[in-house]
Amino acid sequence: MTHTKPGKLICVGTGMRMAGQLTPLARSYIETADVVVAAVPNRFARKWLQDIAKQYICLLDYYDDCDIEGKNRHDTYRRMSATILDEVRAGKTVCAAFYGHPGIFACISHMAIKAARAEGFSAEMLPGISAEDCLVADLGLDPGATGMVSMEATQFMIFERRLDPTALLILWQPYIAGDLTRKRFDTTSARLQVLVDKLARDYPLDHAVILYEAATNPLETPRMDTIRLRDLPTATLNGITTLVIPAAFTLQRDQATVDLLNALPQAESEAMQTA
Ligand SMILES: C[S@@+](CC[C@H](N)C(=O)[O-])C[C@H]1O[C@@H](n2cnc3c(N)ncnc32)[C@H](O)[C@@H]1O
Repeated sequence: MTHTKPGKLICVGTGMRMAGQLTPLARSYIETADVVVAAVPNRFARKWLQDIAKQYICLLDYYDDCDIEGKNRHDTYRRMSATILDEVRAGKTVCAAFYGHPGIFACISHMAIKAARAEGFSAEMLPGISAEDCLVADLGLDPGATGMVSMEATQFMIFERRLDPTALLILWQPYIAGDLTRKRFDTTSARLQVLVDKLARDYPLDHAVILYEAATNPLETPRMDTIRLRDLPTATLNGITTLVIPAAFTLQRDQATVDLLNALPQAESEAMQTA
């Protein structure tokens, strides 16, 4: 598709700590874009962006909209996306920067890209280093070993979800677990108890779970606190905590499927392997 309209959007991630985790391509867009629009909470990262961007628009204050009667986080996200679009419509090359990966648990970039493309603008996302990437490295957990399920804590609570306790489970945003108003930036031990009770359908209460926080600057070390699942309601959960639940049981062989595979004619299975 050719884009004749001036105005372009590139969504980039800054990594969990910019020093060393920002890709050269993302950096180049940050430096050369007409405007950088960003929701980056780390003040050192923000200062660095402000210093190298030609123009900088900070979206962080938009979170205050949640204090307004009748508004919630989704209104904030829509307003952030609308601000990004306004700059694109003005014919600028816009670099929207988010911490981590711009498209992982970051709906604003997806919203803005969809809207920009619908209006005929060029829009793309560059991958970044997410919290999940960091936790795999810091905790030494290979998703390939058991498989991995990754979802938002409140989404797990309020929808019918089937868990597989033989796989690694990552629950994002436990610090707002069970907030149905979508306005709050905290949780309560009562809500966390509801989360624990639901997890206890599949996991033993004494299962060891990890409160993980990737380092956000080079002088920090990651938080990797192991607690019992039952103790989650009294644990300290920050905005940057991710709940990591390692597999509780070993994989059970699906003998019926293995038998079916073994029963396939030899030639057919060889053909499948070379296809
Ligand atoms: C809105 S999501 C942003 C995720 C981000 N886009 C990424 O690529 O990792 C916020 C959630 O990401 C996770 N998170 C953010 N910062 C983190 C950190 N330093 N360590 C571990 N998890 C983090 C937490 O679960 C947090 O509640």
